[in-house]
Amino acid sequence: MTVRVCLIGAGRAGKVHANSLTHHVPRASLVALVDSVPETLESTGEQFGIPAAQRFASLEAALAWNGFDAVVITTPTFTHKPLAVTAAEAGKHVFLEKPMALSLEECDAIIQAAEKAGVVLQIGFMRRFDPEFAAAYERIQAGEIGQPMIVKSLTHGPGLPPPWARDLKQSNGMLAEVNSHDWDCTRWLMGSNPQRVYVEVANFKGAMHNVTTPHFYDNALVNIRFENGGLGSISGVCPCEYGYDARAEIIGERGIMQIGDIRGQAVIVGTDRDRGYITPIYRTWPQRFAWGYIREMEHFAECITLGTPNRATGADGRWAVAGVLAGTRSLLEERPVLLSEILDAVPNS
Ligand SMILES: NC(=O)c1ccc[n+]([C@@H]2O[C@H](COP(=O)([O-])OP(=O)(O)OC[C@H]3O[C@@H](n4cnc5c(N)ncnc54)[C@H](O)[C@@H]3O)[C@@H](O)[C@H]2O)c1
Repeated sequence: MTVRVCLIGAGRAGKVHANSLTHHVPRASLVALVDSVPETLESTGEQFGIPAAQRFASLEAALAWNGFDAVVITTPTFTHKPLAVTAAEAGKHVFLEKPMALSLEECDAIIQAAEKAGVVLQIGFMRRFDPEFAAAYERIQAGEIGQPMIVKSLTHGPGLPPPWARDLKQSNGMLAEVNSHDWDCTRWLMGSNPQRVYVEVANFKGAMHNVTTPHFYDNALVNIRFENGGLGSISGVCPCEYGYDARAEIIGERGIMQIGDIRGQAVIVGTDRDRGYITPIYRTWPQRFAWGYIREMEHFAECITLGTPNRATGADGRWAVAGVLAGTRSLLEERPVLLSEILDAVPNS
């Protein structure tokens, strides 16, 4: 069986997944596109060879056609819940980009809709499928460095995020849009849920970029205590002038493990004795996680066709959102915040 996919949101992340589905994932094929902006719909449709009759202005219009089995949702965060719930209720498998949603209530609605319909719900945590992160995870599980005591994770990204992604009301800000992966990775690599967080933020470049959004920050440091007693930290910088940087370090009872490299290639070139070594660094997230994006889409197709156990579930997405909400409360109220303050406020949580 080939999984027929409808991509919703033909922007930056959408094009990365469209490329994987078109060129790298034999079990799936991109058959339809949805985007609310006609120019984006047309240009992305042309780029990936989607017939004009299979390009739609809304999910509802695509569902009326109904020639697909699954959706890949790559729209802004504030649209995730209605789109994911509508798709699941129509019996479509759902791949949903991070951050899963804006609130835990929205996460619960998505999880319940997917469970009720019996469809796969996978969250876009591609680091879990990156060869380096995945190998490190397996080696930690095998006990190579003993019990993790500290997990540090960083994401520093180039480019000022779009206005909606800077606004705490529309997106939960940088902790969500840039650091969702770190919230997920620290929990995944530690093997324990966060219990308490404390966040400090700073705004160095907002004025330079004419950003007047309330509570805007472009630097964040998060301290985490996990339920198992382990510690964690997250570093976020965006915009970051030097490139795209995503790394992690795990200190275990018997050793240390470092994941990732700031260098985009292992080739180091020296030609000029005054300038020393020159080596390229990663410039963008599609470049750094090229394999992670392909492998997470392969996994989605395998979950649907082979029943492979899901490695990036709605529950994982919900925990990352819980971390973001606790972190945002911490930075606004300038105090450590227990996850229970966030989790206990949700009915039937
Ligand atoms: N996993 C990753 O590494 C990664 C990287 C970048 C973005 N993302 C996530 O992907 C999502 C999209 O981010 P982006 O940077 O691609 O944004 P983008 O603005 O480049 O693209 C979003 C697209 O969605 C369309 N759109 C908006 N509302 C819509 C709706 N209701 N129905 C149909 N189309 C709609 C827009 O017209 C636009 O083309 C966000 O959740 C973001 O956090 C994930």
